[in-house]
Amino acid sequence: MENIKTIVISGANSGIGKATALDLAKLGHRLLLICRSEQRGKAAVESIIHDSKNNAIELFLCDLSNQASIAACGQAIRAKYDAIDILINNAGAIFGQHQLNNSGLEQTFALNHMGYFLLTHELLGLIKQGSGKRIVNVASIAHKFTRKIPWGDLQLQHLKYKQMKAYSLSKLYNIYFTRVLAERLKSDNITVNCFHPGTIYSGFGASGSEFFAKLVQVGGPLLSKPSLGAKTAVYLAISPKVATQSGQYFAHRRKAHSSRLSKNKQQAERLWDSSMSYAQLREYGKV
Ligand SMILES: NC(=O)c1ccc[n+]([C@@H]2O[C@H](COP(=O)([O-])OP(=O)(O)OC[C@H]3O[C@@H](n4cnc5c(N)ncnc54)[C@H](OP(=O)(O)O)[C@@H]3O)[C@@H](O)[C@H]2O)c1
Repeated sequence: MENIKTIVISGANSGIGKATALDLAKLGHRLLLICRSEQRGKAAVESIIHDSKNNAIELFLCDLSNQASIAACGQAIRAKYDAIDILINNAGAIFGQHQLNNSGLEQTFALNHMGYFLLTHELLGLIKQGSGKRIVNVASIAHKFTRKIPWGDLQLQHLKYKQMKAYSLSKLYNIYFTRVLAERLKSDNITVNCFHPGTIYSGFGASGSEFFAKLVQVGGPLLSKPSLGAKTAVYLAISPKVATQSGQYFAHRRKAHSSRLSKNKQQAERLWDSSMSYAQLREYGKV
């Protein structure tokens, strides 16, 4: 089938990522699942193959909060593939405690923002060779809780740490990343969009504070299922209806309003520059 795409999905062993992978597998696409746990990743591959009857599902291991691990994963994918058609940056979490990783990055920033930024950097050369030319970032309506960016303290070391503040900042950064990258990739005909998946009962919240995790556990069953969150991901990844849309924020398969702050180009560019220096990159996409 000519329309079969090679699609990379991060955080594909649970929740929205797994549901997105299953839907795309059912449509016959070739999937590369990026997961951090071999056990959970293999279980996801097996269940997606079983439920979709599509064998073209492959696992790549990566801790997306760790720059060296992302570089190794990028290298492993480039060693096997000459082109990637679509990338879906989905892996993300909320963290109850402030913690810095070995690069000195706060873990929410490292996973939710730098994970997207660096995985895309690693795979951009392959995406340029692909035929889909789409990048989809899972953001969140939670970005609207952010009123101001703590420029002097992006790793939140000096402010009193609050999990929702760190999370909503990271989801605002997803929108900034989407907008700046869309602009930069215009001449390559690669589109970049992001979306809010809805409020979904998934594995989300388990790494939050004890109270937050309990709240999600108790209230979660009343929320929507991951398959609903996957609908906008699949739409942005493969629908011809959005083939020319780029730099946009969606919800429920429609363009949606994002906050005023999320539209500030200067702040978006400033985050881009900070991310380049955190990652010690000279040229984005060149590996
Ligand atoms: N659920 C919601 O209501 C909601 C709303 C708005 C936006 N979102 C966004 O949706 C995305 C997916 O979340 P979800 O709700 O589907 O939650 P989830 O079920 O917890 O899925 C998160 C995925 O990310 C993976 N992950 C976490 N840390 C990782 C790391 N260091 N390296 C590699 N993978 C890692 C998880 O793997 P493990 O299983 O190994 O932890 C899991 O596969 C996130 O970006 C989240 O911010 C969710």
